[in-house]
Amino acid sequence: MKKAKMILDKAFKVGDVDNRLYGSFIEHLGRAVYNGIYEPNHPLADENGFRTDVMELVKELNVPIIRYPGGNFVSNFFWEDSVGPIEERKPRLELAWRSLEPNTFGLGEFAKWTDKVGSKPMMAVNLGTRGIADACNLLEYCNHKGGTKYSDMRIKHGKKEPYDIKLWCLGNEMDGEWQLGKKTMDEYGRLSEETAKAMKLIDPSIELVSCGSSFMDMPTFPQWEATTLEYNYDYVDYISLHQYYGNLNNDSSDYLAKSDDMETFIKTVVSTCDFVKAKKRSKKTINLSFDEWNVWFHSKEEEKDITTNHPWQVAPPLLEDHYNFEDALMVGLMMITLLKNADRVKIACLAQLVNVIAPIMTEVGGKSWRQTIYYPFLHASKYGRGTVLQPLTDTPQHMTCEHGMVDDIVSVAVFNEEKEQITVFAVNRNLEEDLELNLDIRSFDNYKINEHIVMTNNDLKAVNSSEKEDVYPVSVDVPQADDGKTSVVLKKASWNVICFGKK
Ligand code: AHR
Repeated sequence: MKKAKMILDKAFKVGDVDNRLYGSFIEHLGRAVYNGIYEPNHPLADENGFRTDVMELVKELNVPIIRYPGGNFVSNFFWEDSVGPIEERKPRLELAWRSLEPNTFGLGEFAKWTDKVGSKPMMAVNLGTRGIADACNLLEYCNHKGGTKYSDMRIKHGKKEPYDIKLWCLGNEMDGEWQLGKKTMDEYGRLSEETAKAMKLIDPSIELVSCGSSFMDMPTFPQWEATTLEYNYDYVDYISLHQYYGNLNNDSSDYLAKSDDMETFIKTVVSTCDFVKAKKRSKKTINLSFDEWNVWFHSKEEEKDITTNHPWQVAPPLLEDHYNFEDALMVGLMMITLLKNADRVKIACLAQLVNVIAPIMTEVGGKSWRQTIYYPFLHASKYGRGTVLQPLTDTPQHMTCEHGMVDDIVSVAVFNEEKEQITVFAVNRNLEEDLELNLDIRSFDNYKINEHIVMTNNDLKAVNSSEKEDVYPVSVDVPQADDGKTSVVLKKASWNVICFGKK
């Protein structure tokens, strides 16, 4: 068996994990809201129409922030339509996904739902078809105590205390051809600068996310980041990154190598932020909000067909990717990549949460179930809180078509000092060979392996469904540690969570 070696030391600190790294996303898109989290006629719906079975699955993931209401949807979002008495709200044509938005679920309902699942909203403002005034009005409605037009409107709507939303996105993917009201980098730079300035006058306690490029292969990347930050640097706190991967060529080795591209993407955005910092002689550091990340490619044809040929439906089945086992490995690899960069990536949102490119799926009137990708995210959220340690890894490599030689093992470790736990997350992305991993945790006295959780499958294309959840993690036997050194087997094509605790 091929061998690999990993040394872990308390001194190899990357940074503390910001819990918001385990954020997610609910957009008014497809069946995310309607017939997803909100289905008043479902037997398990509560008095608000929220599906309690879905809430349980969300709670299990322990998601601290949820981005809302878009996504592309936000670029033509008229927030006033989504508040006040439900019976007085009017449906509207939703242009981003060419659907019908009934507005029976809006801002107030979302705030209530996030509260119930133990999360907080990460709100986005419309900088596509609207602008500064509208962003200010919405912020006043949400965060101002009372005695003004919009704060009193909120109170009249039954919410006395402010929503006090702390994190705001300044639009969405404003460089994209598909975006309503797309902008050039100079237009967006100016608009985001002035919007951010005004919003911070209303509530200086908020944090703001400036739109970065829609994905790394956008033609204006990374000039977009440099130019827009030159305008808004003093007023914003984070810049966004979005990236989705897919196995479009059905080349699984190459597909799993794409997490290396994500690493390059993050490093380039960090350098660009720091370039602008240097240029401005600024003391302030802009951090990263990777607020859309996932696998997305399975459902592209259906999406095109529905939006082109069957528009203006309420909650059409859009972006319902049915994830397989290799997609779970990819999500695990992306999660590891985010953790490895926890010194600069402070916020991340798995896009999305329910039914739309999601870990959680629902049937109308029926069951809810976990997709394959649910598990790596669950494990990271559960065990990945603390301080990130960079393992020193000596790993064999394998050849891929587009990415050349890549490492078999991609890994990261998180030390939770309070709980006296160390967790190693590792993917063996070699699809042919198991590996023996020798772990040396030299500086951790009296620690031993408590658990080794593994997700593996002989069929890379195996999927879960409402009928059967065949792809799930299992705990395997753990060897006894000897002098802080121990060996485990990382099966070919596997997701591994190796947990150490005090003896
Ligand atoms: O998450 C789905 C879509 O992907 C979002 O609406 C958009 O921001 C991105 O292109």
